[in-house]
Amino acid sequence: MQYSTLHNGLQVPQVVFGTYRIHDNDSVERVIRDAYDCGYRMFDSASYYKNEAELKDAFEVLGVRDQVLITSKVWNDAKGYKGVLEEFEQSEQQLGRVDVYMLHWPCDEFLNRWKALESLYRAGRVKAIGVSNFKKHHLEKLLKEAMIKPMINQIEAHTYFMDRETIDFCREQGIVVQAWRPLMRTGNMLQNPDIAKVGEKYGKTTAQICLRYLLQEGLSIVPKSTKKARMQENIDLFDFELSEQDMDFMRSLECGMRTADDPDDYPWNK
Ligand SMILES: NC(=O)c1ccc[n+]([C@@H]2O[C@H](COP(=O)([O-])OP(=O)(O)OC[C@H]3O[C@@H](n4cnc5c(N)ncnc54)[C@H](OP(=O)(O)O)[C@@H]3O)[C@@H](O)[C@H]2O)c1
Repeated sequence: MQYSTLHNGLQVPQVVFGTYRIHDNDSVERVIRDAYDCGYRMFDSASYYKNEAELKDAFEVLGVRDQVLITSKVWNDAKGYKGVLEEFEQSEQQLGRVDVYMLHWPCDEFLNRWKALESLYRAGRVKAIGVSNFKKHHLEKLLKEAMIKPMINQIEAHTYFMDRETIDFCREQGIVVQAWRPLMRTGNMLQNPDIAKVGEKYGKTTAQICLRYLLQEGLSIVPKSTKKARMQENIDLFDFELSEQDMDFMRSLECGMRTADDPDDYPWNK
């Protein structure tokens, strides 16, 4: 595993285990055990995923809670400063401890909502704070008012979609970008025969080429799988390097294909 250092000094793994849609009690325990065995040490959750209590139970059974970082995110219906703090209390209770806390989307009043995260960080309730789905213009607005700069921005990014403007801005600002849906769960990217051909050269799968590409673009990644063999595949990314020619080929596949709404089009921004 390789780590990134956040601007507050916290070291975070570059491969984070995604837990969206992993919520049935038995399967959470099995999935978390497999992911931990494979080497994952950071886990991505959110109040919206409705699995925080199950994650806590799973880590307690394993006895490794102190070995891992868990991210949670506040959902959009928690209104303003007070609403965010109230929802945090619930997440903290369910998870036992929230290590990294994020605004899930840049919905209304995000400046006030960010101030709530700053207060949690200052009080030592969380180790790092960040945002998710913030585009460059959201970050510029936030940075004008923020006392603490977000440490992470988690955004959609994969071979077919890269918001380069936001990624470049985060790099300039020292904000770590985590790519969510890096395997493009709802698209056909993993069936692309040309990426498979690149994989043949390195003895790697299409998924590994797509994930390694993001790492070499300077992003951290948040892949999810319920299957142990795939979990292992998605973390075994540090024993090869794509050539500049193959990186250029991967870049050429970018086609602006998002799998979810553009953050500017979310209904609560209207
Ligand atoms: N911040 C946000 O707004 C936001 C939004 C969406 C997602 N996320 C985070 O990002 C994480 C990942 O996104 P995601 O779960 O939507 O999609 P993803 O990780 O891109 O793709 C997951 C899908 O790919 C399959 N898969 C996993 N590894 C594979 C492999 N090596 N080969 C072939 N198929 C593979 C999985 O199936 P199996 O499980 O059957 O293996 C699953 O159907 C989420 O779990 C969540 O933590 C954040």
